[in-house]
Amino acid sequence: MNKVRDQYEAYPYPERDPRDEKKRLILGSPSLPQEIDHYVFGGQRDWSQPLRIFVAGGGTGDGLIQLTALLTQYGKPYQATYIDLSAASRKVAEARARTRGLKNITFVTGSLLDAPDHGPFDYIDCCGVLHHLPDPDAGFTALRQALAPGGGIGFMVYAPYGRSGVYPLQEAFTALYEDMSPKDRLKAARQVVERLPAGHPFKSNTNLNDHKSGDAGFYDLLLHSTDRAYDVQSLTDTLDRTGWSFAGFTVPILYDLARLAPVPAGMDPVAAMAVAEKLNGTIRTHTGYATDTPRPVASGKTRTLVPHIKGLHAAQLARAVAQGQTPALDTDGIRDALSLPRQTAPLLAAIDGRRSLQEIAGHAGMDPITFGGHWSQVEKALLPWGMLVYSNVLR
Ligand SMILES: C[S@@+](CC[C@H](N)C(=O)[O-])C[C@H]1O[C@@H](n2cnc3c(N)ncnc32)[C@H](O)[C@@H]1O
Repeated sequence: MNKVRDQYEAYPYPERDPRDEKKRLILGSPSLPQEIDHYVFGGQRDWSQPLRIFVAGGGTGDGLIQLTALLTQYGKPYQATYIDLSAASRKVAEARARTRGLKNITFVTGSLLDAPDHGPFDYIDCCGVLHHLPDPDAGFTALRQALAPGGGIGFMVYAPYGRSGVYPLQEAFTALYEDMSPKDRLKAARQVVERLPAGHPFKSNTNLNDHKSGDAGFYDLLLHSTDRAYDVQSLTDTLDRTGWSFAGFTVPILYDLARLAPVPAGMDPVAAMAVAEKLNGTIRTHTGYATDTPRPVASGKTRTLVPHIKGLHAAQLARAVAQGQTPALDTDGIRDALSLPRQTAPLLAAIDGRRSLQEIAGHAGMDPITFGGHWSQVEKALLPWGMLVYSNVLR
């Protein structure tokens, strides 16, 4: 019996109605084309070449639909393979793709451990899956073996501290309800959760909302049979051990120790991120990218790169900065205000996803030296929040 498959046959995750594809596109990390380019391809991928995509544990299709719908919208070629243990989840993902008329997707019901049989791939999406494998290292290794040279993975795995309160409940429910059907387990566990005392770590953990989003969310959070969390150190150790090179997290500020405390001289950067994770205490998931070999992440020092603003419209941001406003930022409970000098407003206003940095400087009528000074301030303010990435996908 495969408990993980049984769960996702009974409760495909996340709950999605294919008809909603007519109304909205769900966006998120990983697997935004601009982000993939930034972290995996140095912001310089040749998008005229088809992107060979593998969506590992694709569930009801969020990552698959986002990536293939955006590439279709941008007129960029791709060939995607979706795989999942759960046929019920695949049915939803297929219906969503059909509703959108998306082409060049192969749907497979099976295990991501067989990834090498389907590859090689330039990009692998694996969001919320590897921590559910009985032997996660085998999953990391199989995906690495399916990667084409120069490619990379966008991953999301659970993190321990922001999920405090979850694991004792999962253990208790396993001890109590292991032999019940998924439906009966859900009913029994819901009754217990209703009665938890106010001070229970799960009840006081305001980072968690999945259990409020319906049966699939509740089951996924509290009744999973196979679920482990990775702290920064264990995640980077796992990547190293299984042949991956860590490229970066999508919201670096969450891991920035210097924001929280003086960093001891000579401290290893991974150790510093691990301490920041402990001090913040609110990180529920680690979302980031890894590649086959170490390579430089895109940087504005290369003036041919094309910047994109994420999370806000560049024009909106430019207006706010021109008026001296400081828009509020909030991620995983970390709050700050975005403060940029007014002189950067014309540069922000010129960002359209197509202009390169040198074209933006020209458009704003700025000489290279003045531009360099202002742009480094834009990078300093936006990169930590994952709000600035470089990609030529729209060129
Ligand atoms: C939490 S869901 C995530 C779905 C999707 N990636 C997303 O982010 O919305 C986990 C999915 O992984 C699938 N899964 C778990 N183990 C798997 C394996 N060994 N091979 C393929 N799929 C697997 C489950 O069936 C389920 O659909």
